[in-house]
Amino acid sequence: MPVERTLSIIKPDATARNLTGRIIAKLEGAGLRVVAQKRVRLSREVAEGFYAVHRARPFFNDLVSFMISGPVVVQVLEGDNAIARNREVMGATDPAKAAPGTIRAEFAENIERNSVHGSDAPETAAQEIAYFFAGTEIVG
Ligand code: CMP
Repeated sequence: MPVERTLSIIKPDATARNLTGRIIAKLEGAGLRVVAQKRVRLSREVAEGFYAVHRARPFFNDLVSFMISGPVVVQVLEGDNAIARNREVMGATDPAKAAPGTIRAEFAENIERNSVHGSDAPETAAQEIAYFFAGTEIVG
C-alpha cells in the first residue's frame, strides 16, 4: 500500500460545535497521522479558489458562504492509502447516506454542513495540499 498524503478540512459546522478533537480521534483511529494542521478563517477569495471546480454548480455560492461563516481546521493527513482511507472514515457526502460509524454519519448536519472535506484523488490531494501549506509546514 502506498504511503500517501491527503488534504482534510474540518468545516465550520464542526468547529462551531467543538467537535475538532472528536473528529481528529476518528481520523487517527483510522490509521491517519496529522502531519500539518492550522485553524484559520477562510476569506471568500480563498474559499472560492479552493472550490473553483464546483463554480458552475447550483450550490456553489451557499457552499462558499458556509465555508467562510466560521473557523476551519485545515490538515494534511498521512498514511497507507490515505486518500481512500480518509474518504472511508468520512463517509458519503450526504450524511443520510453515510455508513454508520463514519464522521459524517455521526456528526454532519446535512449535505452542505457535512463536517469534513477530503481530497478525492492523488492529483487533487497534491493541488489542495499546496493550496494551503508550504512544504516546510508539513512534518511527517
Ligand atoms: P466537499 O467534500 O467539501 O466537496 C464539495 C462540497 O459541496 C461538499 O463537500 C458539500 O459540503 C457541498 N455540497 C452542497 N450541496 C451539495 C450537493 N448537492 N452535492 C455535492 N456536494 C454538495
